Amino acid sequence: MIEQIYKNVLKPIFFKMDPEDVHNRMTRLGVLLGKTALGRGLTSGLFYFDHPALHNTVAGIAFKNPVGLAAGFDKNAQLYKILPEIGFGHAELGSITGQPCLGNPRPRLFRLPKEKSILVNYGLYNKGAEAISHRLANVKFKIPIGFSVAKANDPSLGLEEGIQDYRKAYLHMHPLGAYTTINVSCPNTSDGITYQDPHKLDMLLKAIAKEKHLKPVFLKIKSDFTNAELAEVVDIAEKHPWVTGFIISNLRTNRNGLKTSKEQLDHLSARGALSGLPVQEQSNKAISFVSKQTKKTIIGCGGIFTGKDAYDKIKNGASLVQLVTALIYEGPTVISRINRELVDLLQKNGYGRISELIEEVHA
Ligand SMILES: Cc1cc2nc3c(=O)[nH]c(=O)nc-3n(C[C@H](O)[C@H](O)[C@H](O)COP(=O)(O)O)c2cc1C
Repeated sequence: MIEQIYKNVLKPIFFKMDPEDVHNRMTRLGVLLGKTALGRGLTSGLFYFDHPALHNTVAGIAFKNPVGLAAGFDKNAQLYKILPEIGFGHAELGSITGQPCLGNPRPRLFRLPKEKSILVNYGLYNKGAEAISHRLANVKFKIPIGFSVAKANDPSLGLEEGIQDYRKAYLHMHPLGAYTTINVSCPNTSDGITYQDPHKLDMLLKAIAKEKHLKPVFLKIKSDFTNAELAEVVDIAEKHPWVTGFIISNLRTNRNGLKTSKEQLDHLSARGALSGLPVQEQSNKAISFVSKQTKKTIIGCGGIFTGKDAYDKIKNGASLVQLVTALIYEGPTVISRINRELVDLLQKNGYGRISELIEEVHA
């Protein structure tokens, strides 16, 4: 019923407006609802779903369900009070950079309804680690919160300064969350440089290795990799036992083979990378490959819209999943729907609990 209201009434209105304006309005509404017990209670009454079959401990953290919010939706960490009430099992906030970052010029978000995708060229807009960590210093979170850290989108930062910016963000954010993600795959920096190139990744991890690792640390990587490139990233991460695992994957940079032609996409925005359905298959393949290369934990992300999509990611080797685009296309009921469908799939396939499925995949 609420899903139908979102899809048939709200979404057609939202989709006529600028995507970033809609997002900013939704963020303000989310902050407002999260402020009062009444707002939180109403939200949880409408959206929350819990089932013991979904409870699980991953990387030493207890999760009520495997479905988390992926990085990029709550860039300035404002929605942590309302996200648990919508039913997320965890949420990754950010990406947060060492120095504040304005991001790329607007417009920088484009909807692609035929693809169930968003073309994203945000460029790491956020208020910076110092301001955000200061505001959150004494907050107790209701669900596990991960902080995603990245390097500011500033082409004047050289390799060493870029690493120092990551380090600054890490030092501020790592003590606060349940886990930290090092986002080495943002495709939308103005210099086009990511830190998943083996040489840069090696240097970055050696720098962060010197810091304290009080909580699990994940690396967020892209899935536009060949298997040989993925194997190289895994090999570098294997040298660092404090790297708990990988989030696979970030946005898709390759624009080929879609319903929308490359020319149409280039006309919308020459820059930017794709979320949603176009990421699904390649992220599943990358998860499957990486899970055979390493015992490190994998969080699966990319094109999850249904319980079956989440189940497929787990069958391929993920222990948790994350989403953003489904929230935009399906509305906030999508989280409980995915979790309900997951419970059904577990039961149909003879699993009492999600941990049994994960253990079987990794046996
Ligand atoms: C608007 C938008 C902003 C994003 N910003 C970030 C970001 O700051 N950091 C990051 O690691 N991933 C970011 N992402 C990527 C998502 O976290 C996710 O990896 C990707 O969208 C695939 O998941 P989905 O298909 O469920 O959207 C962003 C995605 C979208 C749609």
